[in-house]
Amino acid sequence: MSELMPSEQVARYLVDEAVWAPSVHNTQPWRFVSSGQQVSLYADAGRGLPIADPDGREMMISCGAALFNARLALRVLGYAPETWVLPDPGDPALVARVGWRQRVPVSDFEQRLASQVHRRRTHRGAFDPEPLPHGTLAALRDGAMSEGAALRIAADDGRRAVLAAAVQTAEQELRLDGVRVRELAEWTPAPGSARSDGVPATSYPARAERTDPYFPGRDFARGHGWGLPPLSSAGSYRAAGVAGVLTTAADRPADWVKAGQALQRILLTASACGAAVAIHSQPVELPRLRELVRNQLTDGAYPQLLLRIGMVIQVAASVRRDTDDVLFRADGDRG
Ligand SMILES: Cc1cc2nc3c(=O)[nH]c(=O)nc-3n(C[C@H](O)[C@H](O)[C@H](O)COP(=O)(O)O)c2cc1C
Repeated sequence: MSELMPSEQVARYLVDEAVWAPSVHNTQPWRFVSSGQQVSLYADAGRGLPIADPDGREMMISCGAALFNARLALRVLGYAPETWVLPDPGDPALVARVGWRQRVPVSDFEQRLASQVHRRRTHRGAFDPEPLPHGTLAALRDGAMSEGAALRIAADDGRRAVLAAAVQTAEQELRLDGVRVRELAEWTPAPGSARSDGVPATSYPARAERTDPYFPGRDFARGHGWGLPPLSSAGSYRAAGVAGVLTTAADRPADWVKAGQALQRILLTASACGAAVAIHSQPVELPRLRELVRNQLTDGAYPQLLLRIGMVIQVAASVRRDTDDVLFRADGDRG
């Protein structure tokens, strides 16, 4: 497909795909610099969340997800990506460098994942009662492992209840903390906003959908009544989905980048199987609750995100900044 594609065009395609990664509050905390047959991915601290994410853990997870898309984009073009994560100890904002030289044909599975990059949306709320297609959970677990992380499913009711309680407690605390609410408000524009970042009102339900157990979503609307009207199926039984925790063995920036790549592999794999995923980071933003989840549910591995996976007809929309706003050339020009 790309035998003669110039490096600049490859870099642009890679970034076009990378920016459709998920990011905490859709902050899109990244910047890309192209130089020959290489793109450097930087974390953009100006788009960080000093209150919710003081260590930049969720920022690095978000950048890790973008890195996965960048690697996948190169595979679609028939390149074997070379990846260096956190290559410069003197520059912790340099999340990764990705290069392309060697050619290896793309696989059908990689094509299937890539076809979901623009289609996938974060789900918020309940799921339809249908079970996941056979083999989905195994594929998600294997995918997490191949990126150096783990997806631990809360298989029994007791574990599901603990996870739900952690989300409920966290969400309650976050809603009562004025400083945190103000920070969230900066990333939740009003309906009709022309902003190309933040969580748009077209991406979350206006009314919480109760499930048993209950995993409350973030309060993006903050009492304004914003959000999508209920789905037509809202009257029937709605399910919480399969709940699990994405974990890493250690908890350093390199582990956060692994968690982000694993997250995006999970999201795209689920989407390719016809399933959707809800992301809950409320409990892992509060150290006491994160520790509780670690002690009770993950055998000491570090919880990075809580996920719910299920079947649903997706109606959510999202927004992104233009590639031109985030891609620069090493000589300083925009890419
Ligand atoms: C580290 C991280 C944490 C997130 N936490 C939440 C969360 O707590 N609640 C939620 O609804 N979405 C969460 N998200 C999803 C983002 O809000 C979502 O990716 C972003 O708004 C872009 O929308 P999209 O994924 O539909 O493209 C999180 C995403 C990441 C990467």
